[in-house]
This record gives sequence, C-alpha cells and structure tokens, in this order.
Amino acid sequence: MLEHDVVIVGGGLAGCRAAVEIARTDPKLDVAVVAKTHPIRSHSVAAQGGIAATLKNVDASDTWEAHAFDTVKGSDYLADQDAVELLAREAPDVVIDLEHMGVLFSRLPDGRIAQRAFGGHSHNRTCYAADKTGHAILHELVNNLRRYGVQIYDEWYVLRLILEDGQAKGIVTYNIRDGKLEVVRAKAVMFATGGYGRVYNTTSNDYASTGDGLAMTAMAGLPLEDMEFVQFHPTGLYPVGVLISEAVRGEGAYLINSEGDRFMANYAPSRMELAPRDITSRAIAREIRAGRGIHADGSAGGPFVYLDLRHMGPEKIMSRVPFCWEEAHRLVGIDAVHQPMPVRPTVHYSMGGIPVNTDGQVRSSGDNLVDGFFAAGECACVSVHGANRLGSNSLLECVVYGRRTGKAIAQYVQNRKLPAIDEQRYITEAQRRLQVLLEQPGKYRINQVRTAFQDCMTQHCGVFRTAEIMQEGLQQIQQLQQQYPDIYLDDKSTCWNTEIIEALELQSLFVVGRIILAAALNRQESRGAHYREDYAQRNDSDFLKHTMAYYSPAGIDLQYRPVTITMFEPQERKY
Ligand code: FUM
Repeated sequence: MLEHDVVIVGGGLAGCRAAVEIARTDPKLDVAVVAKTHPIRSHSVAAQGGIAATLKNVDASDTWEAHAFDTVKGSDYLADQDAVELLAREAPDVVIDLEHMGVLFSRLPDGRIAQRAFGGHSHNRTCYAADKTGHAILHELVNNLRRYGVQIYDEWYVLRLILEDGQAKGIVTYNIRDGKLEVVRAKAVMFATGGYGRVYNTTSNDYASTGDGLAMTAMAGLPLEDMEFVQFHPTGLYPVGVLISEAVRGEGAYLINSEGDRFMANYAPSRMELAPRDITSRAIAREIRAGRGIHADGSAGGPFVYLDLRHMGPEKIMSRVPFCWEEAHRLVGIDAVHQPMPVRPTVHYSMGGIPVNTDGQVRSSGDNLVDGFFAAGECACVSVHGANRLGSNSLLECVVYGRRTGKAIAQYVQNRKLPAIDEQRYITEAQRRLQVLLEQPGKYRINQVRTAFQDCMTQHCGVFRTAEIMQEGLQQIQQLQQQYPDIYLDDKSTCWNTEIIEALELQSLFVVGRIILAAALNRQESRGAHYREDYAQRNDSDFLKHTMAYYSPAGIDLQYRPVTITMFEPQERKY
C-alpha cells in the first residue's frame, strides 16, 4: 500500500495550488498528486480569457466590494456571500503571488499587469496572458510541484474514495500504463478533479472532463450541491463547440444575428455583449429559435450567430486573442480578421459540485463535515458562483480556494496518524469490478451508449427546460443506464487499456447526469443558468436555497440548505 500525508486527486490549477501551499506551510509533509492525465494536460491549461482581481492597474476606482457585488449579482443571489467576500478580498494577493512564481501575464506599457473587461464585471479587472491564461499559470504551478518535491502519479485513474465511519482514508487507483491496482492511504484526501462537460454532446471541455470526482463522492454516499446549474458559454465555435474566449468580446467583438443586428441591445442594453453568460447564452438561443440564426451559406434560419471581430483590426486580434483566431482558422477555416466566426452556446462549467466550507473541507450535510476530506476548484461548490459564474472568476476560485484548502490541510494533518485500511478488501473489490467489465459478453459499444446519453442530456436539460422534457430525459437515462451491464470491451489487455477507462468514465457520466436532471426537475423556478419555461420567474420565497442531492442507484434524495447572505440583499437582476 502506498502512503502519503496528503493525497490530492487532480493535477489542474486547484490541485497544484493546494499542493504548493501545503509544501510552503510545512515542507516536511509528504504530498502526492494523482491524476488521470499529466498535470500539464489538465483542463485548466485550456482556460483562456483571464483571472479577475481588483489590482486597479487599469481602473483605479475598482474595489473588492464591487467585485463581490458583481459576483453575487451574477450568481442570481445564490452564492454564499462569506465565500464571495474571501474570493474578492484575496484575489489581488493570489495574482501577485502567481506573478512572483513567474507567471507571464500580459503587461501595460508601464510594466504592470494588464487588465481587460469581462462579462458581468463592472470594472476592467481581468488579468490575462493574451488568451492563454490557464496555460501560463498551470505551467508555473507544475514547475513548482517539482520544485517542492511533490510526488506525481500521472496517468493514474482513481476508482474510488475510501470513506469509512465518516472519515476519508485514501483512494483506490488504477495505473493506466500497466493496469496495476494500488491503494493509497493518507491523513487527508483532496479532490480537485474538475468538471463534467462531457455529460453533454457539445462542450468546451476536454475529453477527460467526465465528472469522476463528483461521481465517486456521490457513490460514497455524500451529497452534491446545486448540480442543476450548468453553465453554457455563449460563444462555442460552431459546430465543434470549443471555446472562443469571452476575452474576444471583452476586447470589443460584436454578436450579430442574420439581420445584421447587434441583438444584445434587446436583452442587456447596458452591458451588450458583456452581459453575464446565462443571459447572453439565452439571448443567442432565442435568436436562433426565432429564425434569426445563420446557415453556413449566410442565409437566415440557421443554427449559429456571428461573432464579429473585423472592426478590431489585425494588430489587436493577433496581440490580444491570437489563440481564438488560430482555433477558428484551424478548426473551421475562418480567418477572423476578414470573416465573422460562427458561434453558439456550448457547455462550459459546473457551478455545483462537492459541498465544502471556506477551508475546503467537505460537508456531509448542511451542518456536518467529513473528516479528512477536502475539495477545491470546479469539482467543489463553496459556493462563490451560485446559479451563474462570471467569466474569469473560475481561475480565481482555483487559486484562492486551492491556497486556502492547502493551508487548511497542512494544519489538519498535524499530529494525525495514517488511518488503518484493509487493503486487500479494496483491491479484491476493484479487481472484481474490472473483471466484470472485461468479461461481460455485452451487446453495446461504449460509444453507442455514451452518445445516446450525451444527446439525451443535451436535448432534455439544456439552456431551456420544462418539467415534461426533463422527466422524459430522466426516464431515458435510467433506461440507458440499464444498458451499462451490456456494454462490451474489445481490449482485454492491461497495458494502456483506454477502453476500460472509457467504461469507468461512462459510469461517472450516468451518475452525474441523473443528479443534474433530478435537481433541475425539483427547482421550480428560473435562476441564473437554470431556466424553466414552465416557471419563468425567480422565486426567492421557495428557492433561495442550495440543493443537496444524495445519490443511490435506486433514486436521488434532495435536501436543501440555506444561502449565506451577509452583504447584499437579493434584488431584481437587470443589466
Ligand atoms: O471565455 C473565457 O475565456 C473563459 C473564461 C472563464 O470561463 O472564466
């Protein structure tokens, strides 16, 4: 059995930042990062537009209070305001700390960090490295893992969380290189496993974003919070769905319908293209529904709208958003200097996740915490984003709450012993699980079931929702889930068996998808990214509360916990 003081699952921004903080707080602690890809290939590397912080380099009148207010308003008042306060207050410090680690931010002419406009933010406060900000930050953090001697187990898939008597004791892992199973025990386990974009058929997320950490937590009997809030980024490149950064609109690009109108004037006149994402995504979807979308030949009635950068000119496009230009050129053959880009909403981010307090410790209910279990980043719900996240607050959350969680873990493990684990029991159970998958005769290909599932989630729990559509979706998914014991695998080997990983990921997708649908069905109101056509208004009397969903194969139990309101009373949300 492997042993470490701390094991962190996930090598993206939140996991790496936590590992660095643990090492800085107590260099004697033995920290391991276990990740299913190499940390540099974690999805954080694909983050583009930036990280919000009131550095006041561009706008001296900015304040942390304004950042907090924008975040709470953006969240449609569902965010916990104590957590938002910490996010906004600590933001300048964590960004300067990243700069000191060596992150290559874009600069103003006087050498200070440049800051740009972003959706829902009232001031220019988003720090950036062109449109490759995640790339710049993650590379420095991974360098620092090496510097601090953190043990990295890359290309290891985690099969389960070991949770006994309310205490997290370790994990069971599968080494993708050779198929070997290992139990890792630790004084503290942290999940920083990212999101679940692959629950849907069109997403900006990478192939590894299958919600494994969320599913493992749910299958261990712990709740997931606010899973109904799925963020659709307004500008996914059509038809592939990859991200065209909000930075493009922050730098001045227009959204145009088939009539040549900047239609955001009808939806958010004071913010136009820089309205929050829930509002902008719905606006695009409504334009398309109303027949003002565009076809590839330029005629009306098609499935996308235009993102027009042409007036920005080649110099600005190539210096501020070169990666977006390159993506459109490489993937759909559009030269954005001369042609508008085809875009439509794409699944981008999970506002919900594993419920945690502001030290990153996981909640087993509204009032109770799990011993030895922590989470941060997209897989966690602290909750700073509530019903809708503002762009550039997610990298910030990873770094602020990665740091806070790392510090809390370093203190938590002091004077604790490694827990006792019956290693053989967990190895035998994992062997059986894999053996069943390899040996079941089966009649369905994984891809066939996964595609049907992703299509179902996309059709039945998208930008617009109704009870009828979601109920139908839930039934279909339960039927599809029954096909799981009938999938078959061609590859029976132990060396780089990616088919086994796909089969395990499919199980995660089912668990996460069912929880999203169940939570969405029960929230009979519209708030942030959760828009019900049958309940079109926000309903604070009945639903100003967080969903806590407990999964079991037989069904999902939904409970609720109150929202923390400390600074800003809920108001009507207008832009
Ligand atoms: O549009 C973007 O660059 C994405 C940023 C974010 O999700 O925070």
